Amino acid sequence: MKIENVDVLDIAREFGTPVYVYSLEELRRSIAEIKQLSPVTRYAMKASSNVRILQEMLNGGIKIDAVSVFEVKRALRAGFKPEDICFTSDVFFNADDVGYCLENNIFVNCGTLGMVEEYGRGWKDLGKGSNRISIRINPGEGHGHSKKTNTGGPYSKHGIWHENLDEVKRIAGTYGLIISGVHMHIGSGGDMEHLKRITSKLVEFAKQFDDLQTINFGGGLPYQYNPDLPQEDISGYKNILAERMKLLNSHFGREIVCEIEPGRRFVAGCGYLLGEVRSLNHTFDEDRKRLDYVLTNVGFCHLIRPMAYGSYHPIWFVGDDLGPEQDVIVAGPVCESGDVLTQENEEPVARRLPMPKAGDLMVVGGAGGYGFVMSSNYNTQPLIPEVVVDGDRLILTRRRQTLDDILQEEKDVQG
Ligand SMILES: Cc1ncc(COP(=O)(O)O)c(C=O)c1O
Repeated sequence: MKIENVDVLDIAREFGTPVYVYSLEELRRSIAEIKQLSPVTRYAMKASSNVRILQEMLNGGIKIDAVSVFEVKRALRAGFKPEDICFTSDVFFNADDVGYCLENNIFVNCGTLGMVEEYGRGWKDLGKGSNRISIRINPGEGHGHSKKTNTGGPYSKHGIWHENLDEVKRIAGTYGLIISGVHMHIGSGGDMEHLKRITSKLVEFAKQFDDLQTINFGGGLPYQYNPDLPQEDISGYKNILAERMKLLNSHFGREIVCEIEPGRRFVAGCGYLLGEVRSLNHTFDEDRKRLDYVLTNVGFCHLIRPMAYGSYHPIWFVGDDLGPEQDVIVAGPVCESGDVLTQENEEPVARRLPMPKAGDLMVVGGAGGYGFVMSSNYNTQPLIPEVVVDGDRLILTRRRQTLDDILQEEKDVQG
């Protein structure tokens, strides 16, 4: 199996496993596909903040949506300019964040009334920075690939509730702030039908803001992880957005800037996680049915999506003499029974795959979004390398962490 022109076995030999690998060719394809949907396209960098991926976005003319001031600083270090970045949050993580945004001219998209108020107070006190803000609206409904990624509706903590728009205008007015942007992001991994419908709602809300300059319809573009099913067709979104903008522009009698900010759709498909089969195991259920487990060195400390959301990722084994296909449960090395790559609704689910043996390579697909960025040191597992493939070239963008790296911030409390 190859990623661009490079054999996965060569990547595993050179960098060891587990290792994240990103194909620039696939990334560039998705950048081109998404960029034509909207006049301004931001990348929700929470999906993967790998420096090479950020630089590819920059070169592709994509702007940034950051969800923490640390992400803002990371984007700046990767080469973005302050004016390319929008900071979306429901809170400033601490009071220093307000000052940072004001002093560095970072456009802020506020998801709560309290955040608008804190920014307004900061702007008055500091006498610096911009008095223009965007507000994130909770339109009253949402959609996601899992309840945990649904970010709209009454059970979401995100955004200013749509019935509080008069209140947000009042608070902004008190501090002399101008609401020049409206935004919504109602879920990650939604579906196109829902996205199409909800965009009209945001347009109606947006009409209430006389100083409007930008409208941001958020991310949430769907991505089909199963390569045996047709990929989600997102091309129709361009016309939908154009129709919405026609209405909005005619309402205001001027051009409003249309923005979107997907994350997953940009990067999910370009990423692979290579691991190794370490051991086989089996059990018998109550009916004496045998359950076969393939234990690998890829755990939820490396890729948490299956455990957090029951997400599907394609899996391929690569070895000299793979056995015939059979039902197997693929799991990781973490000392926790939920550490299973093939699961749904918190239950292990067997998948029909050629039977590997210890030492064979495993390739997990669809791992470019919410993969490395959500990894952890659980079980004192070092963070793993990230490698970029560009044609024949392999570029190491992050080395493997060592135990010393993990321990260096720890204080010696002996005595
Ligand atoms: C504010 C915001 N914008 C955009 C996104 C990107 O979502 P997705 O990766 O589904 O496109 C997210 C992710 O949840 C988000 O929180």
